[in-house]
Amino acid sequence: MYSPLMNMNNLIFSLSKGIDLVSSGIMHHHKNVAIMALKMAKVIGLDKKEMERLFVSAMLHDIGVVSQKEKRLIEGYDAPDLHVHACEGYRILSAIPTFNDVATVIRHHHDRWEGNNRTGTKGYEIPIESQIIFLVDRVDVLSKDREISHKGVSMIQDRISKGADHLFNRDLVNIFLDLSESRAFWLDLKDDFSNELLREISPEIYTYSLDVIVDLCYAMAYVVDRKSPFTSKHSQRVATVARELSRLCGFSPSEQRQMFLAGLLHDIGKLAVPEEILNKEGPLNEAEMDIMMTHTYYTYHILKHIHEFPKVEEWAGFHHEKLNGKGYPFRITGGEMSLGARIMAVADIFTALSEDRPYRKGMEEARIRQIMQQMAGNNEIDPDITALLLDNYGWFHEVVMSIEEFYSIAEKRKKEINNTIISIDPWEKLRSIYN
Ligand SMILES: [Fe+2]
Ligand SMILES: [Fe+2]
Ligand SMILES: [Fe+2]
Repeated sequence: MYSPLMNMNNLIFSLSKGIDLVSSGIMHHHKNVAIMALKMAKVIGLDKKEMERLFVSAMLHDIGVVSQKEKRLIEGYDAPDLHVHACEGYRILSAIPTFNDVATVIRHHHDRWEGNNRTGTKGYEIPIESQIIFLVDRVDVLSKDREISHKGVSMIQDRISKGADHLFNRDLVNIFLDLSESRAFWLDLKDDFSNELLREISPEIYTYSLDVIVDLCYAMAYVVDRKSPFTSKHSQRVATVARELSRLCGFSPSEQRQMFLAGLLHDIGKLAVPEEILNKEGPLNEAEMDIMMTHTYYTYHILKHIHEFPKVEEWAGFHHEKLNGKGYPFRITGGEMSLGARIMAVADIFTALSEDRPYRKGMEEARIRQIMQQMAGNNEIDPDITALLLDNYGWFHEVVMSIEEFYSIAEKRKKEINNTIISIDPWEKLRSIYN
């Protein structure tokens, strides 16, 4: 099937923001790392392909961080085991053939220059993109919560200098020391203009394949779902049920695809919710519920800028709204809820009732029917969509239960898309600048 050329930058920006939610501390980490990395790369003279790889890798580099606890650990400058999340990030993204080279960069993004790395590489064997990301990642960690005064900058420069030949390539350290002398280097990170700046300096990433976009959303859904062992396939399931409901409601093939993407990302805001709350056995108290209820707010705002799929934020972000206006977080009413948003709400409830939870097993058919009919009767969820689903209960149940793992789906895709191979030849350019 013919696919138009699609720009992926908005999607990459949104997913990157989602990954930052895992952090309670550095909220602009991925963006800051990307800005600094692109500036370093410009000095080195990386070519177009390398710039693209560097940009995407910088924007997604901590995708392998599972929990907020782990995130807090890696925010320590000398944190001991930084390889764990780097390898996990590699595992996730290497399932997508188009992102194999990005996965490789991420795998090495905490490799120390002197070696002794779990990846087995050292020095010039480490991809240049990974080295750049490692250095600026540590700069961002050091500048967290710090006033960027002369004293603050010297302290950071000092720490990074001490890492030369040991953690970082000396040539890269020199480039950083040069760049960081400028006041604007630091203002670019802290200032409100940083989003615009990153848009300006980042390379445009295009794809002809919708599969690449779907795969990336699958990967993100996996990142969200693995926060809880009880819901490891929840997003995939909701996506499939919602897509099938939209098909039965007569949505066009392109709208059905958008519905599927919205389903994969509907809980992306859960990355902001601590695991203790997500996985609590038993009901949540009021304060915990308040935190839980933020997730659709984040989902909505994270997805809002993916203009290529303009309905995704609404369909995904309104999945806990109710027709009677008593849902959350926007408390919109039925009149404001589009058919797509109503479908997602029904798909989410049906899937959640069918699945095991920390405090209960998946429910039986009779109980699910009873709860959903009651909700439709209370004007919480759409009665027609509910009827459509319950009329086809057996089939939808089968759909939910037979969802494949992200990796087996990705495995099938692998056969269709060619790999790109990482190169380390830019080192030649770097050496010629600094020798
Ligand atoms: Fe990292
Ligand atoms: Fe949700
Ligand atoms: Fe959900």
